[in-house]
Amino acid sequence: MELETREKPNTPFFFDTHAHYNDNAFDDDRDGMIKTCRAAGMVAAVNCGTDPGSSLECIKLAEKYDFLYAAAGIHPEEALRYSEEVIGEIRRLLNGEKVVAVGETGLDYYYEDSAPREIQQQNFIANIRLALETGKPVIVHDREAHRDTFDILKNEKVPAGGAVFHCFSGSAEMARDIVSKGWLLSFGGALTFKNARRAVEAAEAVPLEYIMLETDCPYMAPVPLRGTRNTSANIPYVAVKLAEIKGIGVEKVFEITTANAFRFFKIDGKKQ
Ligand code: NI
Repeated sequence: MELETREKPNTPFFFDTHAHYNDNAFDDDRDGMIKTCRAAGMVAAVNCGTDPGSSLECIKLAEKYDFLYAAAGIHPEEALRYSEEVIGEIRRLLNGEKVVAVGETGLDYYYEDSAPREIQQQNFIANIRLALETGKPVIVHDREAHRDTFDILKNEKVPAGGAVFHCFSGSAEMARDIVSKGWLLSFGGALTFKNARRAVEAAEAVPLEYIMLETDCPYMAPVPLRGTRNTSANIPYVAVKLAEIKGIGVEKVFEITTANAFRFFKIDGKKQ
C-alpha cells in the first residue's frame, strides 16, 4: 500500500530526537513552525548542534520552549575546528540544564573532503569522552563509516543506553551489533524512501525498544513530501512506515518510541 494513500493517525504523540530548528531554513517562521509541530503532536524535541555556535543556538531555543531540549557537540564536517579549546567550549555548554546529550558527532566518510579521517576520529573520541565525563548520551552521525564508528564507541566503552545512531543507514547485521551493546537507532524520513531497503531491514531486525523517531529537519522529509523542508509535523509518516514494518498499530509505535526517547535523554516524560 502506498503511504500517500494512508491517513495520518488521529492522535499522534511523538518525540523528535534529532532536529535543527536553529537552521536558517526556519528563519522566517521558526516560532510559528515550532508551535505548529507542537499542535501536531510533538511532545518534545532535541535540537542538535554541530559546533559551539550552533549548539548555543539550540540551547537558546530550549530556554524559550519547555518541550525543546538541546545537544551540544562537534559534527564530523566541522572536525577541522577540533581543538582542546573548542572541546572546552562544548564542555561548558554541556552544563546547561536542558542540554541532554552530546552531539551531533561521529564520522562521515562520504564527505571526506571536509576533514581527514584521522581528525574526524580524534574529534569523535573527544566528544565521546565529554559524554562519558558528563554522564550524557552521545548522538552519533555515521555516514559510510559504520565499522570505525562502532569500533570507536566500543573501544571508548560507551555504556548501554549511551549512544544513538541517528538516521541509521547500516545493515541489519550492524543494527543487531549496535543493539547487542545496548545502544539505540533512530529513523527519520529516509525510512520511507523507495530505495530504503537497508534501513527497512535494519528496523525489522531490532526490537522497537531500541528505536527512536527523528526528522533531522530541515532535511530528510519523508515520502510523500520528499525534497521539501522537513518539520516534526511529518514524523507520523515515518511512524506509519515503522508500524507497517513491525506489523503493529501506529499508536504502539508512538507510545514505545516516545518512552524510549524520554528514557534515553533522562527526561521526566510526565512534565511534557
Ligand atoms: Ni543532523
